[in-house]
Amino acid sequence: MAHAAAYDDFASLDVSGKRVFVLTGAGVSAESGIRTFRDAGGLWGDYRVEEVASPEGWAADAALVWRFYSERRAKAGTVHPNAAHLALAQFEEALGDRLFLATQNVDPLHERAGSRRVVHMHGELMKSRCERDHAPPFEDSGLYMDAASIPRCSCGARIRPHICWFGEMPFEMDSIGRALSNCDVFVTIGSSGAVYPAAGFVQRARSVGAKTIYIGPEQPDNADAFDECRLGKAGDAVPALFRT
Ligand code: OAD
Repeated sequence: MAHAAAYDDFASLDVSGKRVFVLTGAGVSAESGIRTFRDAGGLWGDYRVEEVASPEGWAADAALVWRFYSERRAKAGTVHPNAAHLALAQFEEALGDRLFLATQNVDPLHERAGSRRVVHMHGELMKSRCERDHAPPFEDSGLYMDAASIPRCSCGARIRPHICWFGEMPFEMDSIGRALSNCDVFVTIGSSGAVYPAAGFVQRARSVGAKTIYIGPEQPDNADAFDECRLGKAGDAVPALFRT
């Protein structure tokens, strides 16, 4: 059972010489003004997941899907990294390739904070790709608000958001698996622990003997798998997390 307490009841962890795996979720971007999915007022309160985040939703109404992601692109243009993103970029600076940062977030805030090696397992908001995978994903800040504006690939298929939808395989699972098998410390920041496979990473890290820590204002669904739940906001708790 996790030891849960306010984040400042825990000491900074000495990670010198250790391999650290950090998984971030929507909560790491909450203090930047990006809505989470499942909190009160979250995105899934306004939209039906299956309509905007599934291959079936895309087949039924691609314009609705693009409106949803276009609104999020427009929002992403107005937000800035917070203290948690900045601290993670500094940890990368100090730890080098001993830090593996995987995010479920599709926003670009880790990169804007200076993180250089971010694994976006659920895709990237500011990229698009051919729905038939005829060409690789490309940078795209376009806003497509109706069916007529949806661009086409040179092969004739529609361009879709570069997002992992429900029912699709998250990206970079091989490199994630290797990093989980090799980590000494595993930290999840701001994720409700409701969506797999990400919610199962902590078990994998535990099975190789890693110390497991959760950071967020409330305990996640998978709290039992963590050694410690440090209860607090990411912007307060993450900067104090490690001694490098
Ligand atoms: P959720 O919306 O499910 O959970 C957000 C978590 O962030 C909650 O546990 C909150 O307690 C926590 N939180 C809120 N404010 C915070 C703060 N200031 N600091 C730290 N934590 C805070 O989001 P995710 O778990 O990331 O997938 O959702 C996982 C996936 O489900 C998403 O990537 C998305 C969604 O459906 C796809 O779209 C494929």
